[in-house]
Amino acid sequence: MILEKFKQHLKQNFPKIQSFHPFFNEALKWMLEAGGKHFRAQLLLGIVNAKNPALFNQALNVALALEFIHTYSLIHDDLPAMDNASLRRGKQTLHKKYDETTAILVGDALNTQAFLLLSKLDLKENVRLKLIETLAFNAGLNGMIIGQAIDCYFEDKPLNLEQVEFLHIHKTARLIAASLKMGCEICELSQEDSEKIYQIGLKLGLIFQINDDIIDATLDTKEAGKPTHNDLHKNSFVNLLGLEEAINSKNRLKAECEQNLTSVDEAVAKTINDLIRQYL
Ligand code: IPE
Ligand code: IPE
Ligand code: MG
Ligand code: MG
Ligand code: MG
Repeated sequence: MILEKFKQHLKQNFPKIQSFHPFFNEALKWMLEAGGKHFRAQLLLGIVNAKNPALFNQALNVALALEFIHTYSLIHDDLPAMDNASLRRGKQTLHKKYDETTAILVGDALNTQAFLLLSKLDLKENVRLKLIETLAFNAGLNGMIIGQAIDCYFEDKPLNLEQVEFLHIHKTARLIAASLKMGCEICELSQEDSEKIYQIGLKLGLIFQINDDIIDATLDTKEAGKPTHNDLHKNSFVNLLGLEEAINSKNRLKAECEQNLTSVDEAVAKTINDLIRQYL
């Protein structure tokens, strides 16, 4: 139900601009309408649904902002300068469908549009500011950007376990943890509760990226909707530990995560556990 509501909201709110560019609006929605799991949006909406459903409709735009940021990160991740991938969410990547210029600019547009959405939210000013700060911190330099920079720079340069964890925490886990934290911020949970949930989110995000590395090693392109066996030069968990040990790590962290969730609000724990079961 949460997922259906989000999908509908997304479909009704693709970004667009009136101009005489022949295809920019089509390009803006190309990757958004391709779907994806909406894992981050579901985490945020799950928290709001559990803690203050009266704010669900306002939260839809926050979830949309997360989806814009995440989708921009994928569009740029697929560029020839990064992972050079031609398929995403079962469709041609933007730079293949159109061109690199368009892919870069659509990514830029989704990134900035996310913050425009947050600035216009119908929520208290202090809440809006916190949301902007949390997203900027975790998606930006202190999170995804330094993660992606390390991921790309250290291709063919093997890192140790601690470094690979740093990479995965920044590249993926911080945005996932931020999705939970932003749900807490909308509901104005205590600093303590929201920090506890953020920490669990970091673990969840690490599991998510380990699982993504396992997908790369074990699924075919059709199943994954994106090119697989593409991480051979990367510091993926599978390359570092081997497939079996990567799966063991994932399962160990999942057990830890489930254990940590026993100390948070029951409804919150349930929504996160349900998503873990469904996707990880
Ligand atoms: C893929 O993210 C990139 C990672 C951070 C692992 P998702 O697996 O959430 O991609 P979609 O949104 O479902 O396509
Ligand atoms: C990308 O990680 C993480 C981002 C921040 C975009 P990957 O490069 O492993 O993601 P996929 O496998 O292409 O989806
Ligand atoms: Mg990448
Ligand atoms: Mg990639
Ligand atoms: Mg991957």
